Amino acid sequence: MLDIAPAPTARPGGIDRADYDRQCQAALVSPDAYWREQATALDWIRPFDTVKDVSFAAEDFRIRWFDGGQINVSANCLDRHLATRGDQVAIIWEGDASGEGARITYRELHDRVCRIANVLKAKGIGRGDRVTLYLPMVPDAAAAMLACTRIGAIHSIVFGGFSPEALADRIRDCGSRLVITADEGCRGGRRIPLKANVDSALERCEGVEHVLVLRRTGGDVGMTPGRDVWLDAAMADVSADCPPEPMEAEDPLFILYTSGSTGKPKGVLHTTAGYLLWVAKTFRDVFDHRDSDVFWCTADIGWVTGHSYVVYGPLANGATTVMFDGVPNYPDHGRLWETVDRLGVTILYTAPTAIRALMREGDDWVTRHSRASLRLLGSVGEPINPEAWAWYHRVVGDGRCPIVDTWWQTETGGILISPLPHATDPKPGAATKPLPGVQAQIVDSEGAVLSGAVEGNLVLTDSWPGQMRSVWGDHDRFIQTYFTTYPGKYFTGDGCRRDDDGDYWITGRVDDVINVSGHRLGTAEIESALVAHPRVAEAAVVGMPHEVKGQGIYAFVTLRVGETSTDALQNELRQWVRKQIGPVATPDALHFTPSLPKTRSGKIMRRILRKIAEGDTAAIGDTSTLADPTILDKLLGGCKN
Ligand code: PRX
Repeated sequence: MLDIAPAPTARPGGIDRADYDRQCQAALVSPDAYWREQATALDWIRPFDTVKDVSFAAEDFRIRWFDGGQINVSANCLDRHLATRGDQVAIIWEGDASGEGARITYRELHDRVCRIANVLKAKGIGRGDRVTLYLPMVPDAAAAMLACTRIGAIHSIVFGGFSPEALADRIRDCGSRLVITADEGCRGGRRIPLKANVDSALERCEGVEHVLVLRRTGGDVGMTPGRDVWLDAAMADVSADCPPEPMEAEDPLFILYTSGSTGKPKGVLHTTAGYLLWVAKTFRDVFDHRDSDVFWCTADIGWVTGHSYVVYGPLANGATTVMFDGVPNYPDHGRLWETVDRLGVTILYTAPTAIRALMREGDDWVTRHSRASLRLLGSVGEPINPEAWAWYHRVVGDGRCPIVDTWWQTETGGILISPLPHATDPKPGAATKPLPGVQAQIVDSEGAVLSGAVEGNLVLTDSWPGQMRSVWGDHDRFIQTYFTTYPGKYFTGDGCRRDDDGDYWITGRVDDVINVSGHRLGTAEIESALVAHPRVAEAAVVGMPHEVKGQGIYAFVTLRVGETSTDALQNELRQWVRKQIGPVATPDALHFTPSLPKTRSGKIMRRILRKIAEGDTAAIGDTSTLADPTILDKLLGGCKN
């Protein structure tokens, strides 16, 4: 048994149990009054008229918050802090090499944001225009995001690890006319050719008129005259004065592509006021943020965690946030802890995959550093197994730091289910309780509501301000994907167990989405990359248990007639997927098979494939609906690497 102290009593201003209960009750009984009160934490240009106007019913579908209100995100993240904390550090930049870094104050950040905003305007970008960002983790990446929000442009960040093909798809889908990138990225001592990738993406898609290039490594890159300009030179040429654009509460703020169970990744659309309120509040409450804190979320801004808890949540609260452009195992396995000590980090927010990878390297890498500054630890992105939780708590936190295991999704904008450090007794592996205003239910596959201690699918029965509003360019797909499985409810795609104490344990995706090192991938995406190879006839991809990544990618591949499976082809297919999507999608296992298990109607029986991938062939279960019963022997005899 773990010896874990119960939740400490709240510090002044923090949420204790009584506050939690009171807020849950208020949000349930009088949501308008509750959210009106919460919204006073933001600076509004014009007050809103209505708080909430929501229906999840297909025939009458709408999600609107704070209609009539006008607000600007960058003004909330910057301008309103200038009088009181203009000289406070807003961003501590920690580069790839340990000790390579910079500190940017709120005043300096404000200056940079206004200049980038003016550069964007000079290029003809304004309200509603889409801007694609393909950038490393440098302060000007945050400045570019805020610059978009300042003038009402909609940013779409594409993770720097995605391939030119994936980048081109995303640029095309949202119709960006301008891309901001850097010469190169730098990760774990390796250079990433960001500008060259943009050049190659732009050969595949039309419509981009301008590319702004940030200097990160000083590497030699080609510049296309008339299209490409260096960002620093352009910034020097414009004024540092750029008034924030008054945005309507429901104006689009950003698009972020994420994988679903079918088709290509979809552009999750978040809007202005509700998103900002949600990330500002959840950052303050879940991390119990104080003025003296140094907050470090290790996520990349290419993922939603980076949007919400590297940039918007912290800056809306006037916090000091760390932007890390490196990896946890470079230059050695002690990098995180050495950095925690050097920067005086008080709150660390990272993913279970990183915790598991570091745990394997032994305690010494951790304990040789002091970590005395840490007071709170967070986990996000995938279920945290109790062993990793215990190690995080005992070794990293010296048994004295509460852990917040935060469950949420790209779609939810911010954290929905999480412990609160001063209100929740720790429970290794449980995301514990929904935050105030989050109405969670567990339902069975038919949609019947399950009560008490049960396991089923997690749905949300009402809206919260940070909820996504649409799929870019395909509102029907939004409704279809999230609100039709259980009509009138938002379906998360996650399985969930509730225990006797009413605590929620997320068990993982129940759809065809896999979570590899906290990165979300659709099996359909990887399958379509594989079948695009000229020698592949058919492919089926499932998740497999992976000690460090949480889930690995297991691909079953059928070759075209006349082709033979060889080690060389295995490697070629792996490289092919890397090139099509990006390194995160590289299959961990490739299994050649003469055919796939299908029902008589031609549907692939993924249940069987999952069991094989798990190595649990004894539990394959009922195979009577297989069109070809001999397939199992063929499959089990297939070669896997
Ligand atoms: O399956 C859940 C898992 O990550 C999915 C969302 O992935 P994404 O949109 O990329 O956002 C990741 C960062 C919020 C969820 O559907 N997930 C996220 N956090 C947790 C989690 N699973 C278990 N526990 C968590 N704390």
